Amino acid sequence: MPQSTTLAEPKTERQRTLLGGDLKAFRRDPLAFLTELYRQGGKTAPIRLGPQKITVLFDPEMIKEVLVTKSESFIKGATFKEIARFVGDGLVISDGEKHKRHRRMLQPHFTRAHIQHYAEQMTDIASAHAELWKDGEERLLTEDLFGITFDIIARTVFTFESGEELMKIGRSYSSINRIATEKMRTLFKLPLFVPTKRNKEYLDAIKTLDEIVYTLISQRRTEKDTAHRDLLSVLMSAVDESDQSEFSDEQVRDELMTMFLAGHETTANTLSWTFHYLIQNPEAERKLREEWDRVLGERDATADDYPQLTYTQNVLWETLRLTPAGYLTGRTAAHDVIVGDHQFRKEEILFISSFPLHRSSDYFPDPLVFRPERFENEMLKTIPQFAYFPFGGGPRACIGNHYAMLEMVMVLCAIGRRFRFRLAPNHHEIVPEALLTLRPKGGIRVIANKQEVN
Ligand code: HEM
Repeated sequence: MPQSTTLAEPKTERQRTLLGGDLKAFRRDPLAFLTELYRQGGKTAPIRLGPQKITVLFDPEMIKEVLVTKSESFIKGATFKEIARFVGDGLVISDGEKHKRHRRMLQPHFTRAHIQHYAEQMTDIASAHAELWKDGEERLLTEDLFGITFDIIARTVFTFESGEELMKIGRSYSSINRIATEKMRTLFKLPLFVPTKRNKEYLDAIKTLDEIVYTLISQRRTEKDTAHRDLLSVLMSAVDESDQSEFSDEQVRDELMTMFLAGHETTANTLSWTFHYLIQNPEAERKLREEWDRVLGERDATADDYPQLTYTQNVLWETLRLTPAGYLTGRTAAHDVIVGDHQFRKEEILFISSFPLHRSSDYFPDPLVFRPERFENEMLKTIPQFAYFPFGGGPRACIGNHYAMLEMVMVLCAIGRRFRFRLAPNHHEIVPEALLTLRPKGGIRVIANKQEVN
């Protein structure tokens, strides 16, 4: 039997208050709250966050109806307002015809075949970072992985390699991220037109990013540049087949910001969790190294190796099962609609969370054990489709799923082949913090031990 560590289940009591309803419990620990609701049984659970009534869906068939078969009856609506200022009306936020048109124009550029050519850059960036680390030194691994996925998205989106622009983007992005996160934690948010110090910093950061992005767009338009193979050039040349129209500058900007936001925090956090689980599960790590020795020998991974790196992929699928970066989403009913036996009224809000389903013994034996082998022999075909859905599903499924898997496999191989990690002494307990994505609270400090590679 593989040696493995069982995780602790997040626990909470459901405590409601007269004014806030479930708000306090939800904000204190959304994962424990959702797990407890799920444990109480039932296909749906009504909750109340302040004045807002919400229905949480736990039944895979009902989730499928909302995300796939009846997706036309639901919109993203108000649920994603907090990030709207930054990403504008990009793919994550937009609804209706606009979303359909943009998805139609972008989808062909995100197929497995189309993103293959990013693999080399992904490996090069990760290995260049790792080459700077010293044998035996203590590192804040979570920050290192953020740096790597940030550089990868910056390179593949804009072709920025280094320099002042990239640093400005980095600084602006971390301000935006920090303030958006603080806002999510705060119950009463002051609207952005109120000139608090924080709102000013937020708007200034967005302005800086806008200046850089619009300058780049106008340079590319005047140069009639064809040399770049980045996402910016994809967006600028995308054509809607139905009427031959293209994206406006503002639409290019919104989609770029969307990819930037959706495209690196998710993968950085998932990779952090992967290394965390590997440190705890030496047998899984041994099997992983055995696969790398067999498939890669003494070289780095390329896109061609991806299909052979099946255990590596399963390690990532298992990480996404236990800690799905996109753990919570929401929808608003566009009109009255019945899902399962539940009548949704127009404008009613629902939540869907993969977290409690991914950790349910109804679908996964020993659900809290990290066991990548469970994904072998097409296990996913034996459980309902929406018992495991780390990338969502239907017309609004993650457009970056192939990009994310390719990137995570390339980075895991590049880092893992060069270094072996153990936790730094006296480490705090590593638990998920549920914000925009699931990140390890307080970060992960490791001692990095160099491995021999050529
Ligand atoms: C481990 C990495 C990732 C995870 C777990 C993840 C997860 C998800 C999930 C669950 C959704 C659906 C949300 C919903 O139904 O409301 C989603 C949507 C989306 N993701 Fe990802 N994602 C990841 C990486 C990426 C990357 C790398 C990109 C871009 C390069 C990306 C771009 C997007 C976009 C644009 C959407 C919105 C799609 C739409 O509404 O049409 N994601 N993601």
